Amino acid sequence: MKAFGFNQYGDANVFEELQIEPVAELKSKQVRVSIEAIGINPFEAILRAGYMKDSMPLPFPIVPGGDVTGIITEIGDKVDNFSVGDAVVVHKGFGGYAEELIAFTSHIAIRPDNITLAEAAGLPTPGIAAYNILTFFAKARAGETIFIEGASGSVGMVLVQLAKLMELTVLASGSSANEDYVRRLGADQYSAYDKENPGETFKDIADIVVDATLGGRASEVGVKALKPNGRMVSLINVPTEDMQKEKPLADYYQVESVKELKDNDALKFLTDLMMQDELEIKIAKKYKFTLADIIESHKQLDLPRTAGKMVVIVKEN
Ligand SMILES: NC(=O)c1ccc[n+]([C@@H]2O[C@H](COP(=O)([O-])OP(=O)(O)OC[C@H]3O[C@@H](n4cnc5c(N)ncnc54)[C@H](OP(=O)(O)O)[C@@H]3O)[C@@H](O)[C@H]2O)c1
Repeated sequence: MKAFGFNQYGDANVFEELQIEPVAELKSKQVRVSIEAIGINPFEAILRAGYMKDSMPLPFPIVPGGDVTGIITEIGDKVDNFSVGDAVVVHKGFGGYAEELIAFTSHIAIRPDNITLAEAAGLPTPGIAAYNILTFFAKARAGETIFIEGASGSVGMVLVQLAKLMELTVLASGSSANEDYVRRLGADQYSAYDKENPGETFKDIADIVVDATLGGRASEVGVKALKPNGRMVSLINVPTEDMQKEKPLADYYQVESVKELKDNDALKFLTDLMMQDELEIKIAKKYKFTLADIIESHKQLDLPRTAGKMVVIVKEN
């Protein structure tokens, strides 16, 4: 089958078209999915660039991609909750930039009929991260104030919507270009990082801070906004020990894989919300399943861009 991947670390141009032998036999609790659309995530660019080559050495060739939607074409002998022909959303570590994927049923959910292929492919990684942050890492409670840094990003946009559904007051940051969009999602206040320091604007008032940016000064800004005994959750790096000295009584958490967190719990919750039109996944751009488009989508990951997910459509339904 056709797939896109790389045989060396480097910039977006290291991608090549690969022919991968499909897995012959499924394990009991696995399904085979014919892929219709793929979500593109910053993590895949981090892998490709080799930033994790020491902590997570990869056996080449690597086919990245963890977020797909498609149709089940085969099920393992102990699968009783999904059937051939079901449309599903899937969250997986690797192998998604391809025509087909094998996944355990613990990482999939039924795709609601009312959403597009692009919205379904854009959901898994950002949606699961946002859900786990609010319910597990930050343990958010109604009435609390949350400051979401990077609220216009893929994870940020889900965080804003879930936090409002959980009845939190939402303070948000992002670029000034994306202010209207984030306010429309429900943010109560917005601070544009390209015009002011959001940490000063929201100084000492957030029970919870989530750093959902790509890094840079966001850690420092987030600590400033935190209440002295608040909780801060970071998607990339927790604030350094030096930064934490400003709020030594606060708790600092890094988003990581934890055994008790189940992808299918999060995906079921999120797809139910989408079925009820209570959660939107904004699409920034749709690409084709070609080498040129995969390379272009990765070039875009490194640039400032319109809010929303980039997705690759493999087959139109
Ligand atoms: N550990 C995990 O499980 C996990 C899961 C998902 C994502 N992540 C990580 O989470 C991060 C966000 O991912 P994503 O897909 O949401 O990325 P994204 O869509 O590129 O969003 C990045 C966001 O950061 C904002 N931003 C950039 N500089 C900022 C600053 N100085 N202050 C405030 N906001 C700033 C951007 O705002 P503008 O666009 O308005 O400039 C945008 O809203 C990435 O680092 C990703 O690798 C980790």
